[in-house]
Amino acid sequence: MSKNLVVYFSRPYEQYGVGNISEGNTAIIAKMIAEKVDADIFEVKLQNDTYPTTYTPLTEVALKEKKAGVRPEIIGSVANFTDYDTVFLGTPNWWADLPMALYTFMESVDWSGKKVAPFVTHEGSGLSSIPSKIKTATNAEMLDGLAVYGHVAQNDREQAKEEVTNWLKKLGF
Ligand SMILES: Cc1cc2nc3c(=O)[nH]c(=O)nc-3n(C[C@H](O)[C@H](O)[C@H](O)COP(=O)(O)O)c2cc1C
Repeated sequence: MSKNLVVYFSRPYEQYGVGNISEGNTAIIAKMIAEKVDADIFEVKLQNDTYPTTYTPLTEVALKEKKAGVRPEIIGSVANFTDYDTVFLGTPNWWADLPMALYTFMESVDWSGKKVAPFVTHEGSGLSSIPSKIKTATNAEMLDGLAVYGHVAQNDREQAKEEVTNWLKKLGF
């Protein structure tokens, strides 16, 4: 039987359009996917999390990190990464890109033979060119991506679930 893994990065605290949240938007979608496809789940977290907990300051730090191309240290690793066939890779859209911690993750594992299904939460930009950035970083086979509005993930779980289910169906799950 093929094995599925969900890997994601997500921030609670203050996010655009949803105020202060206790669970990040991408985390909500990640858990929906993991439940539907019976996947293991791994959250990419910073070893030294000094990110601001308010929205605008966070956008400023993130932009600086993107421009500098930093690779922040992350906590832990996925056990037996080679065993997985499909990796659902979830990210918030940060300046049309992934948070740098996801590059740390992507560059820390061997993607040979894997399929990657990217999913993104955003507030208007959709997927941007995130799938092609993942392709460049991993050289994995890419499946069609899913983009869900962050405020929908946060405040309209039924709608979000429907979007997730439709996408998974299209991918053959
Ligand atoms: C640093 C930063 C940059 C962002 N840049 C964009 C952007 O370029 N386009 C967009 O649609 N949303 C942008 N957003 C909004 C987030 O993509 C959106 O709120 C997302 O759902 C947050 O997910 P999370 O709670 O899982 O971290 C940005 C948010 C942050 C914090």
